[in-house]
Amino acid sequence: MAGSGLGASGRVLHAAQAEDVASASNFRAFELLHLHLDLRAEFGPPGPGPGSRGLSGSAVLDLRCLEPGGAAELRLDSHPCVEVTAAALRRERPDAGQPEPEPEPVPVCTRPFSHYGQALCVLFPQPCIAGERLRVQLTYRVGEGPGVCWLAPEQTAGKRKPFVYTQGQAVLNRAFFPCFDTPAAKCTYSALLEVPDGFTAVMSANTWEKRGPNKFFFQMCQPIPSYLIALAIGDLVSAEVGPRSWVWAEPCLIAAAKEEYDGVIEEFLATGEKLFGPYVWGRYDVLFMPPSFPFGGMENPCLTFVTPCLLAGDRSLADVIIHEIAHSWFGNLVTNANWGEFWLNEGFTMYAQRRISTVLFGPAYTCLEAATGRALLRQHVDITGEEHPLNKLRVKLEPGVDPDDTYNETPYEKGFCFVSYLAHLVGDQDQFDEFLKAYVDEFKFQSVLTDDFLEFFLDYFPELKRRRVDSIPGFEFDRWLNTPGWPPYLPDLSPGDSLMRPAEELAQLWAAEELDVRAIEAVSTSAWKTYQLVYFLDKILQKSPLPPGHVKKLGEAYPKISSAQNAELRLRWGQIVLKNDHREDFWKVRDFLHSQTSPGG
Ligand code: BES
Ligand code: ZN
Repeated sequence: MAGSGLGASGRVLHAAQAEDVASASNFRAFELLHLHLDLRAEFGPPGPGPGSRGLSGSAVLDLRCLEPGGAAELRLDSHPCVEVTAAALRRERPDAGQPEPEPEPVPVCTRPFSHYGQALCVLFPQPCIAGERLRVQLTYRVGEGPGVCWLAPEQTAGKRKPFVYTQGQAVLNRAFFPCFDTPAAKCTYSALLEVPDGFTAVMSANTWEKRGPNKFFFQMCQPIPSYLIALAIGDLVSAEVGPRSWVWAEPCLIAAAKEEYDGVIEEFLATGEKLFGPYVWGRYDVLFMPPSFPFGGMENPCLTFVTPCLLAGDRSLADVIIHEIAHSWFGNLVTNANWGEFWLNEGFTMYAQRRISTVLFGPAYTCLEAATGRALLRQHVDITGEEHPLNKLRVKLEPGVDPDDTYNETPYEKGFCFVSYLAHLVGDQDQFDEFLKAYVDEFKFQSVLTDDFLEFFLDYFPELKRRRVDSIPGFEFDRWLNTPGWPPYLPDLSPGDSLMRPAEELAQLWAAEELDVRAIEAVSTSAWKTYQLVYFLDKILQKSPLPPGHVKKLGEAYPKISSAQNAELRLRWGQIVLKNDHREDFWKVRDFLHSQTSPGG
């Protein structure tokens, strides 16, 4: 059961006691049973004036008091941009039997917390007692703020209608609705959204239901953490791409979206299910966001949000979708209990993504993709220094520090290495896959700490526990988790050599003082996969600046790189152009940046 603090086998979770310094709420004093949002969206000019754009309505929280000594207040995470104008409380004593009392107005106040949020306190006339159920209704409005992103028509793909979306991770949903904004607490939710004529609302929910021309009703019947509640409203249409999947996009992108993913998403889901157990969320849809969406993908349950850059025309960027699908087990089902343990979400997801990729595309391709990830980690460690405290898997979050400011490659790629190391200790891929399935089954709908995971691992493999694998010199679990710097173990990526070596050799030729044109022309890149070109460009970038004139020739030799539409290629070509001061192509850098951000791109 969500929030029970127990694993499926009855083990007591460390996470059940853990604090979350990023939350101002008293989430341990209550069980949040359900959240309902009833909101009306209005697209006007940017606020604060009358008729300005905003979401207004109410948030209703169904709670049960857990505090043995009773609780005098409900403290929620909120933000100055969330204006609460009224609060009402309805109590339901466990000894009830009497008619339900009417909701009564109760006072609220705010208290400062940090630059990314404030506490909203609902004050009870009398303390509530342990076991008591209560319903708190908050009437509020949110306009401009960090949680709700309003886009003007020019910032959309179609450029005709405005768009609004929310991005909860890590601590932004407190600027969308008052909540327990901690991944340690999970609840079900429902929402009723009223939108202007001609707009469609979508959410991270199991069911999507149109209620009249302007209203949409959503239900998420599995408990999820606050950061996974997500909303988007715009000129949106959908197309079926699988038995449980639609793609959603603005009308001008829907054909490309369907084309890119028709049929394949089901393969990704089915492979994930074979490896990690049932996909519990019902639907799996993908929403193509406006160009300025700041991530590759965001794993909002039932509805992954992705950048439109994925529409490369050749399915070459599907690993992002596979990654977000992998979160259906790691992150969305078993969740890090606080943001200092983010590697539990992302490290496991990288591992799961690459397991799915290995099954579907083979080890060579997967190792090539993993090598690109390793290069990003190398770059990050080189830039920040081996000793940087953020280069630990387990991060100590200081009060007042926004968890998003700790975002980096470490939880992803060092996390991937640690999970790979554990698989290496087990020594048998099938056995390790079974273990991951068991881990998900044990902790599904719960939030966990690294200690919960490691205890489960050692209990699952008693032979490894007996051999004290947690303290092998140089590879101590403690060192993995608490020492910054390069991973002590790297999984073997040599199955990717057949794809990487030609790219590496070609980069070598281009970096030579004198170009060996014959040798270069002898290498045919026409059959190379996008990730091979990416790998090649990463090597060129590492060796840059190249001798004068080389980059110009490089661009001329490979127009499919220097004039690419694919964002991964455009990004790297831009980096090479800048690092080599290749002014002739500066306009491509500008155009690429515009395509990701401002109007006109
Ligand atoms: N959950 C992350 C995105 C995220 C992380 C949003 C932290 C806000 C705060 C998502 O699953 C992710 O990792 N996206 C990657 C995709 C990639 C690793 C394939 C991205 O957007 O780069
Ligand atoms: Zn992720």
